[in-house]
Amino acid sequence: MGGVQNELSSQQQIELLKEQLAQAQKLTALGELVSTTTHEFNNILMTIINYAKLGMRHRDNATREKAFDKILAASNRAAKITNSVLGMARSRGTDREPTDLTKLIENTLVLLEREMNKYRVRVEKLLKPVPEAMVNGNQIQQVLLNLLINARQAMPNGGRLLIKLDHRPEENMVELVVRDYGSGIPAEKLPHIFESFYTTKKGPDASGKGGTGLGLSMCRDIIEAHRGRIRVDSTVGKGTAFTLRLPTATPKAATPAIAPAAIQIGIPGQTPVNS
Ligand SMILES: Nc1ncnc2c1ncn2[C@@H]1O[C@H](COP(=O)(O)OP(=O)(O)OP(=O)(O)O)[C@@H](O)[C@H]1O
Ligand SMILES: [Mg+2]
Repeated sequence: MGGVQNELSSQQQIELLKEQLAQAQKLTALGELVSTTTHEFNNILMTIINYAKLGMRHRDNATREKAFDKILAASNRAAKITNSVLGMARSRGTDREPTDLTKLIENTLVLLEREMNKYRVRVEKLLKPVPEAMVNGNQIQQVLLNLLINARQAMPNGGRLLIKLDHRPEENMVELVVRDYGSGIPAEKLPHIFESFYTTKKGPDASGKGGTGLGLSMCRDIIEAHRGRIRVDSTVGKGTAFTLRLPTATPKAATPAIAPAAIQIGIPGQTPVNS
């Protein structure tokens, strides 16, 4: 009798711990985002302050023009970042809606631009036109941030980072690949990388990132909740590719059937007028 009760309570305990873990993962993701954006913002402010000082010190036109140019460029970047943070704040829930992944990738890269430059990581994009994906933009951005930071950390001396976006119409899926040309993952470690708290990093790096071992387990949870797929291919010394597949927003649009004439001619959203 007592044994059964114990078993029940340990099962309940597991459930409780799982819930707490999910909560902790959400906070880690949010923390990562806050630290990335704050860092970026601070860097931009430093640029603005320094060029404003330069312009005050040197009153010749050439120096002042240069200072204004730099201040304007930095402010524009700051505006882009606030816009993208506001976009994230709007989709803070878990709702999914048709989402432009190209835009989401561009917004995410704005956040990491400085960090990638600092570590000499050259980001290459191969973004084909794809239909909108049915996702929670905020969550997919978290996944992307995790994958991009992992890729950067796998190339401590810099290198190439490739982001590919493609359409798989036969499966009604959009495919997103993040490929690095870094350390790679040994075959015996590969089965563990999606486990919570599995990490080979000694702790946060100079940018304060990495080392909790929650990044990929969060990615997997998010992708599974979207009924998508996440796959990894890796070769030691050559690099690693993570491939995501996410459902498109309008599955049927990929293979249009012969539609009634009125709908083919009609402007979307308008009722055809009978003459
Ligand atoms: N692109 C990659 N190249 C090489 N190893 C990788 C890559 N991505 C993940 N790994 C390995 O998988 C482990 C788990 O990654 P994960 O993102 O879950 O945790 P982490 O980066 O160590 O810490 P954090 O929770 O802060 O992200 C890493 O410690 C690393 O060993
Ligand atoms: Mg990570």
